[in-house]
Parts: sequence; structure tokens; C-alpha cells
Amino acid sequence: MTKALPNIAVLGATGVVGREILKILDENNVQYNSIKFLASKRSAGSTLEFKGQKYTVIETTPEAFDDVNICLASAGGETSKKYAPIAASKGCVFIDNSSAFRMDEDVPLVIAGVNDEDLRKHHGIIANPNCSTSQLMLPLKALDDKYKVKRMIVSTYQAVSGAGLKAINELTDNTKTNLVGMPYEPSAFKYEIAFNVIPQIDVFCENGYTKEEMKVTNETRKILHFDENVKISCTAVRVPVYIGHSEAVSVEFENDVDVNEARELLKNTDGVEVRDDVSTYTYPTPKDAAGKNPVYVGRMRKSIAFDKGLDFFCVADNLRIGAALNTVRIAQKVIEMELY
Ligand SMILES: NC(=O)c1ccc[n+]([C@@H]2O[C@H](COP(=O)([O-])OP(=O)(O)OC[C@H]3O[C@@H](n4cnc5c(N)ncnc54)[C@H](OP(=O)(O)O)[C@@H]3O)[C@@H](O)[C@H]2O)c1
Repeated sequence: MTKALPNIAVLGATGVVGREILKILDENNVQYNSIKFLASKRSAGSTLEFKGQKYTVIETTPEAFDDVNICLASAGGETSKKYAPIAASKGCVFIDNSSAFRMDEDVPLVIAGVNDEDLRKHHGIIANPNCSTSQLMLPLKALDDKYKVKRMIVSTYQAVSGAGLKAINELTDNTKTNLVGMPYEPSAFKYEIAFNVIPQIDVFCENGYTKEEMKVTNETRKILHFDENVKISCTAVRVPVYIGHSEAVSVEFENDVDVNEARELLKNTDGVEVRDDVSTYTYPTPKDAAGKNPVYVGRMRKSIAFDKGLDFFCVADNLRIGAALNTVRIAQKVIEMELY
């Protein structure tokens, strides 16, 4: 007998990621018995529209999870730390977008289509990886299956929407102010983001890397089940782009790589779209990726730094594959695999 359809809650429904989750739940036609939208006291009572119907936003309280089977959460780490254990204790599967539980041993960290079997090990909480890690997993898993990753160096060019609504508004205000020659005092970023790039995302760790950079190292290892021998180094940089993270990736493999074969492999990988023909200047940019679901790959070439190496450029909508889309896809897998 198939399980009854779940009661769903979207926590943080009024935020940048939350709104994207609503769009994708609709686009993907996710089936449910009931749905409700949770946020903080600030937006409780306001209305939002979903599938042509108006819903009242509900304040998040422990009782709000009483009848919920699956919660899609993007309301920040502190909110998740407070409510995920409560929700899980009430039998709800809490799919979390924050970094609060990603590295916990009993919490699966999942990219749908990459390590779905890990979902079976959940104890009520499932984590969605950081946006810069997420977009890399689909192409990297396919390449690893064939050539076996040995070492990887990633440089990111990350859009401001990755830092929420305040950062989006700051790029607009900062740009307008600069264009009329007025001084600007940044607050979402350490330095002015307009006409600039900032080589710091999140705080610095003792080893000189930022937390964002270490997330790429640690989360990639956890998702692809790499051991400590696979070396990964990342430099994460914020750029004045609204939507779409880009990544320059250099990978060294255990096995020889043929670039044409690797291109064909990625052309046949679900969720990846190859745009790679330098003779026609075909390669992906963030403007192509914004609002779309695929992870775009281009500029594929044999490395001249590593003998068995490949370089490529990878672009995706950070609000989609990097957050909302993967959250919704995980919820769909949880429903399909009857893990709620
Ligand atoms: N932006 C990205 O690309 C991205 C990518 C991956 C993961 N994430 C993660 O997703 C989360 C949300 O990011 P965002 O960019 O969507 O932020 P945002 O635009 O600031 O939205 C935050 C949401 O959380 C709600 N919220 C805040 N405090 C709450 C509380 N105490 N109780 C209940 N709800 C509360 C807010 O509700 P109100 O309307 O009531 O304030 C709002 O709906 C963060 O954990 C972030 O790290 C973001």
C-alpha cells in the first residue's frame, strides 16, 4: 500500500530562498495532502500566494510542527538549531538549508541524484549543502565515477544573492551611489561590492581559509564519500553579480582523462548542461544560468598543470541548485522513497 501524501511546511517562506522554494514546489508539481507557510513573528499574519491561492503566514512555534510530515526550512542556522530537533521529535522530516547540521554524523548531506541512498540513514534531519558545493557535485560525481578524483582546486565567483536580500539591495544602492560619484558605506559586505570583487565569504578559520572555503572541502568529501587522501582547496570570492555562482575548477584524477570523452560523459549526466565550443565563443555565464535548473559546464580542457587533469568552468543559479531546487528535489525523493 502506498503511503498517504505528506503534510508539508515551508519554514522561512517569506525569504529569498523560501520564495524560490514556493516557485519550484509549483513547477515540479509536488504532491501533498496539506501545505502551510511559516516565518518569524515579523511576517506572521501577512499573506502570500501559492498556486493561485492566498495563505496566511504562520508564526513558527513548536506546535506549528504537530501535524507536519516534511518541513523545507530556510530560516537561518539559529532557527534550525531551535526547531529541527523539535520537529524531528514529532515525526517530521526536517530538510535544512542552513549549515547548522551539515557535518553532523547522523545527518545525511544530500544532493538529489548524487547520493540519494544516504537519505535512508536520516533520523529526522536532512541537510542541504552549501551553494558553492552543491553546483559542483553533479559534474564531479560523474567525473569521479569514471576517472576517480585525487585532488581539486576550486575558485568561486559568487553572486550577492547568496548573502540574502540585504546584500542584493546593497549591490543596487552601492552601484547607483558610485555612478554619481558619492561615497558609500557598506554594511552587508566588508568592502564596497560595486565595481569590485571581495576575496572573503564568511569568517576566517585558523588555517587562513574562510568557513565558506572549508565548506567546499568538507561537504564535498562527505557527499562523495571521499577520504582524507583526496585533497581539496578552495578560494571563495564575492562578485557584483545578482544571481548565478561561477566556479573555475581544476581536477587531478587517478586515471587518464580524455577531454572529448569527459565532455560526452557530462553531456549525458542528468542535471548538467554542457555549453562548450570555443570556436563559437560558447561557454556559460551567470546571466544564462539565472532562473534555470541545470548546472552549466564549459571551457573544458586538459590541464597543463596536472598530468591526469581537467580544467572546466561551472555556472548555476545559486538560489536554485544551490538551495531551493535541491531542497525540493530532496523532499520529492523522501516522498518517492517513503522516508517520512
Ligand atoms: N541565499 C542563498 O543563496 C542561500 C543558499 C543556501 C542556503 N541559504 C540559507 O538559507 C537560509 C535563508 O536564507 P535567505 O537568503 O532566504 O534569507 P532571508 O531572505 O533573510 O530570509 C530568512 C527567512 O527566515 C525567516 N526567519 C528569520 N528568523 C526566523 C525565526 N526566528 N523564526 C522563524 N523564521 C525566521 C524570515 O522570516 P521573516 O519574514 O519573518 O523575517 C525569512 O522567511 C539561511 O540559512 C541561508 O544560509 C541561502
